[in-house]
Amino acid sequence: MKKPYVFITRKISEKVIQPLMNVADVHMWHEEETAVPREVLLEEAKKADALLSVITEKIDKELLDAAPHLKVVANLAVGYDNIDVEYANKKGIAICNTPDVLTDTTADLTFALLLATARRVVESAEFVKNGHWKSWSPLLLAGHDVHHKTIGIVGMGKIGEAVAKRATGFDMNILYHNRSRNVTAEERIGASYVSIEELLETSDFVVSLIPLSAETKGFFSKESFKKMKKSAIFINASRGAVVDEDALYDALVEGEIAAAGLDVFVKEPVDVNHPLLTLPNVVALPHIGSASIETREAMMALCCKNIELILSNKQPETLVNKEWGLSVK
Ligand code: DGY
Repeated sequence: MKKPYVFITRKISEKVIQPLMNVADVHMWHEEETAVPREVLLEEAKKADALLSVITEKIDKELLDAAPHLKVVANLAVGYDNIDVEYANKKGIAICNTPDVLTDTTADLTFALLLATARRVVESAEFVKNGHWKSWSPLLLAGHDVHHKTIGIVGMGKIGEAVAKRATGFDMNILYHNRSRNVTAEERIGASYVSIEELLETSDFVVSLIPLSAETKGFFSKESFKKMKKSAIFINASRGAVVDEDALYDALVEGEIAAAGLDVFVKEPVDVNHPLLTLPNVVALPHIGSASIETREAMMALCCKNIELILSNKQPETLVNKEWGLSVK
């Protein structure tokens, strides 16, 4: 019998794909640093029973319509704003993501970014390497304390909770805002639920972990930055487009807030001439939240597992469009 056709849109570890190769005819875009060209993806989609996609691919109406045999898209990310889930639902295509396996790794990076921004770690390292260090002096590259400060987490899902847990080790006061209350975070970590206004007005660190959707686009606006303390540090480890980047730039330049640590941008890769990159009080990273070797391999393995399960007509481990599951016998 002909094996189902699987297309993987970016080079991933061969050893992780092995189990999937036993049951499927697996093809992969073999480049690591360049995305699969759209026309190649559309051609592959025509044949595909399953796609393993990464966040640079738009899995939109055009793509889904070009794929008559497609049963599943397994996205190598917890976020799935690159996918038209509603349309996939209409077409009966399962969408899977990779939650849980990346929680701690992403929380580690979020906290690393917070520490690096507060204590000017990147600026200081460049200062030494560029030969600017002439003498020890009391206020040389002095930053802001993290311990005993207030952290305000916007988006208290699993990653938010893991960031809050790390904050307890720094004796921080933990505030959060979320669509719904997170009782676990309140009872186990001691986080307090507050309105978004109170969070913005009282936090020393405002951490964005909200997913991108039509409702959250531009969520951190000119008004949000105005409400923050002048000493506030803004950290974004979710999606760039939840922030109005022009407003953030103005807030940093006009001293409305003190600094920003950004792992994500509206357009990625961010343009090297982007105004935010010219500011010394911005720490910019290339969307590496979940990028540890162990976690990336776990994410790849989970995608492959979900594809395998769906191709054998079983319930996948991490399904985004729960409605799809209802139709599985
Ligand atoms: C995610 O998981 O959504 C990351 O942003 C991409 O790995």
